[in-house]
Amino acid sequence: MMAVDQSVPGIPPSLSAHVVGSFAYLTVRERLPTILTKVIDTIHRNKNRFFEEYGEESVQAEKATIALLSKLRNEMQTDKAVLALSDGLKDTDSWNLYLQRQHTSQHGPDSVSWFKSPWLYVECYMYRRIREALWLNPPISDFDVFSEAKTKSFFDSQQAIITLCTYLQGLYNNMEVHSETQLMEQFYKLLHVSLWGNKCDLSISAGQENSQKASPIDSLPYLQPFILVDDSNKVWLALVSAKKPGESGTSTPGRVDIVLDNAGFELVTDLVLADFLLYAGLAREVHFHGKSIPWFVSDVTANDFQWTIRRTLAANNNWMSKSGVQWQSYIQEGVWTYHDHPFWTQPHKYCDMAADAPDLYATLQRADLVLFKGDLNYRKLTGDHDWDHAVAFETALQGFGPAPLCSLRTLKANTQVGLQPGQAEKLSSKDPDWMTSGKYGVIQFYSPHTE
Ligand code: F6P
Ligand code: MG
Repeated sequence: MMAVDQSVPGIPPSLSAHVVGSFAYLTVRERLPTILTKVIDTIHRNKNRFFEEYGEESVQAEKATIALLSKLRNEMQTDKAVLALSDGLKDTDSWNLYLQRQHTSQHGPDSVSWFKSPWLYVECYMYRRIREALWLNPPISDFDVFSEAKTKSFFDSQQAIITLCTYLQGLYNNMEVHSETQLMEQFYKLLHVSLWGNKCDLSISAGQENSQKASPIDSLPYLQPFILVDDSNKVWLALVSAKKPGESGTSTPGRVDIVLDNAGFELVTDLVLADFLLYAGLAREVHFHGKSIPWFVSDVTANDFQWTIRRTLAANNNWMSKSGVQWQSYIQEGVWTYHDHPFWTQPHKYCDMAADAPDLYATLQRADLVLFKGDLNYRKLTGDHDWDHAVAFETALQGFGPAPLCSLRTLKANTQVGLQPGQAEKLSSKDPDWMTSGKYGVIQFYSPHTE
């Protein structure tokens, strides 16, 4: 493991290590076996818990799951062929069909191996095989191997969460005195907090601690120079123009969908943003989209979503618990809804969504704005191609555009579009790891309604 210099010129040392930390701990090839080894260890460590919960039957299940995962690790490390799934789940056929498509495009079954296949595909496939190994072994089929890490990341970020909830409740106490411009400024702040929340993902650090320690609000001015494209104003205008005039001078705001990424601190930043959108009259309802199976270590599942709201509500801090109470009531009133379509845990690029998941595409078409959180969503939005960096975001979307959309992403993988000519070259000369370190971010907007 390589030590990484985390100092950043112009940023107080106390903030730089936590806020602009570089996460290039492991190479991409090292990361997947490392994650798999941790998964095996987690299952083994939980064997007593399984025994207490399910009795004798769990002993065999734990051993059989570990055997399947060890076989998987060996297939990966020795570059074996990618195998069809056999677990008969709802999405199994669709995964196997995708594999067949890979065979066709890569000339035969032997060529679809771990090192010769597109990286995005094999990364997704590993998480789906982990799901298969557990699913085939009841009674531990529904065990979330990443749950402990996600929970820990929430607790490790506790202070930053309190700061953020305190900030939010403070805003509401003065809300009636806010002008339109002040509202816009607050919106930009919370949008940026949600962007930087994306630093806290556990898949890039292969499950190592990666929580938010510094104040998310105080850090913003220091982080501003690291935003390579900032379309915040276009996002604001999309929200404002979605408002429909109502009776006696009132207006009804539109619908916002958030395609979530990581649990822990990042999810809290998304909930805070969603809360603000409602409170400021910028949205009438928010639809959250999460994962239906444990995914890329820290991605949000339905359990994580509910757990986070419950923990926030039960917190020993007045402002935090007040936020939790509010969020719970949004869920109860149906103003916030959670969805987890299986398409989000398949390897497809989003330009395939209209054909391969038309129901999900139709759902997103009902939104006035869709926010896509994180790096993996960005890779799927752009097809994970090695685009020229000056290519327009719209071009990289390859026809995907169910509604006005915005990607909030810290850069962790080798795809980036929509930069100014020469911007990438400058970055490469001063910071060769700019695309993968997680130091830089983008807020990139596209609307199918504007030419
Ligand atoms: O860099 C490792 C990696 O697994 C990428 O492949 C992936 O895009 C990213 O981490 C996940 O990041 P995020 O949680 O922001 O989607
Ligand atoms: Mg993630």
